[in-house]
Amino acid sequence: MSTNQKHQKSIKSSNNYHRRAQSPFIDGQIVAMNEYGDGEIHGNRKTIKVARTVVGDRVRVALPQTDKSYMYGNLVNLLQPSQKRVDPHCDAFNNGCGGCQWLHFDYAEQLKWKTKILREMLNKRLNTAIRVNDIIPMGMPYGFRNKMSFRNVKNRFVSMMDFNDAVVIADSCRVETVANQKSRKKIIPLKIHPDIQQAHFRSTLSGQIGMHLYVASVSKVVNEFAMWCMQNIDGCIGVGAQTKKKFDVIAGEGHLSYQYKNLIWKIPLNGFFQTNYLQAETLLETALSQMACTRNDSVLDLYCGCGFFTLPLALKAKEVIGIENNSSSTFNAVVNANTNNIRNISFLTKDVGVALNELPGNKYRSVLLDPPRSGCDEFALRALCAMAPERIVYISCSPQSLVRDLKQLFAYGYTVTYCQPIDMFPHTAHMEIVVTLRLQNG
Ligand SMILES: C[S@@+](CC[C@H](N)C(=O)[O-])C[C@H]1O[C@@H](n2cnc3c(N)ncnc32)[C@H](O)[C@@H]1O
Repeated sequence: MSTNQKHQKSIKSSNNYHRRAQSPFIDGQIVAMNEYGDGEIHGNRKTIKVARTVVGDRVRVALPQTDKSYMYGNLVNLLQPSQKRVDPHCDAFNNGCGGCQWLHFDYAEQLKWKTKILREMLNKRLNTAIRVNDIIPMGMPYGFRNKMSFRNVKNRFVSMMDFNDAVVIADSCRVETVANQKSRKKIIPLKIHPDIQQAHFRSTLSGQIGMHLYVASVSKVVNEFAMWCMQNIDGCIGVGAQTKKKFDVIAGEGHLSYQYKNLIWKIPLNGFFQTNYLQAETLLETALSQMACTRNDSVLDLYCGCGFFTLPLALKAKEVIGIENNSSSTFNAVVNANTNNIRNISFLTKDVGVALNELPGNKYRSVLLDPPRSGCDEFALRALCAMAPERIVYISCSPQSLVRDLKQLFAYGYTVTYCQPIDMFPHTAHMEIVVTLRLQNG
C-alpha cells in the first residue's frame, strides 16, 4: 500500500468524528494545529477545524451548516499530503481509535506545535508576557503508556473514545507498554458479561499488571473473570471491583509497586498514578527543583495521590502535609511513607479546599499542587491564596483549566516566574505543564 493510500485509509475512520448535517465541499490548506489536536483552515471569516489532518495538508472537506465563526469540517479527501505526515504504523489508529490524535504527525513537529500552542494560549488569554520554555521531549515516544481503559459495548471490550458514535476494537496499541499490549491481546477476543462495565489496567516497568473493574455488582461472573485474569494475564497481581457504592479488591493484591532512585511507592489499583513513568521522573525532578525546599520549610502537597511528590519533598523539607480526597490513595501514601522510613510527613484524606481552611494560615512557604484535568475549584484557590504562600508550583495537564486558575491567582497578587511544558502524552495534543508562581512582594 502506498503512503498516500495509507493516509486515505485513516481518513475514512476520521469521518466518524463530527457527524452533522453536511452540505458543500471546500478545498483548503491546513495552516495551523489547535489545542484539541485538530488541523485548521483559516478562511476570511471562518476557521474550519479538521480532525486527523496535519499542518501542510491540502484537503477537501465537507462543511456543516452553521453561523459560528468556526466549524468542524469532515475530511473527505487528502488532496496533497503534508511533508510532516508519517506512517502511524498502527492498525488501531487507522481504524479510528481516538487514543492518539497525532500518530500520523512527525514527532519533532508535534513538539514545536505543542510549545507554540501553549505560548499563544497563555500570552493571549492571560494578556501578559509569560516566558514559556520549549517542551521537554520524550526520547523514545512509543511503548510508554502504562494505563489502558476499555468499556464494554455489546459484550466486547472497546477502546474508550471521546465520540459516542464510534467504537474501536483494538487488539494492538503502539503507545502502550509491552505488558499492556500483551494483556490487550488476551482480553480483546473475550465475550464480556454485561455486569462488567469498564476495565482499567495499569502496568509497571517490571511487568506487573493491576486491574480496576467497574461493575454493576460483584457477581459470580465478575469473580470468575477476576480469577481468569489472575491465571491468564501475565504479571496480573490483583483485581479490584468498583460498584456505585464501594471499591473492593476481589483477587490478589490491592496495589502495584514502583521504584525511582531509592524510593518505593505502592500504587492502589483504584488510585491515580502518572501514566508515563519516564516523563513522570522528569516532571518530578523539575517540580522538586522549582519547590527549592530547605530543611527549614514546611510545605504542602495538594492533590497528592499516593505521595508521588510528597515523599521526595519530605527528603528535602522540614515537614510535608499531603492532601488528597481518595482514601485508597492516602492509605497507600501512609504505607509508602512508612516503607521508606519517612517520618516528617502526614496525609489528610479531605477535599483540598476544606483541608486548607482548617490548616494554620501562615506556616507554609511553598505549596505544590497537581489537580485533576478540571483544575482547582474556586473555593480551594481562595483558601490557598488566603494562606499567602511565597511560592506555588502548579502542575497542570490541561492548559485550558490552567489559564482559568492562573487568572484567579494573578488576582491574588501572584506572577509566573517559570513555565515548563513536558511531553507526557506523545501523539496527542495534551501536555504536562509546570508553572512556578511567586507572590509579588512575597
Ligand atoms: C492529577 S492527580 C495527581 C496525583 C499525585 N500528585 C501524583 O502525581 O500521583 C490528581 C489527584 O487529585 C485528587 N483529587 C481530585 N479532586 C480532589 C479534591 N477536590 N480534593 C482532594 N483531592 C482531589 C485525585 O484523587 C487525584 O489523586
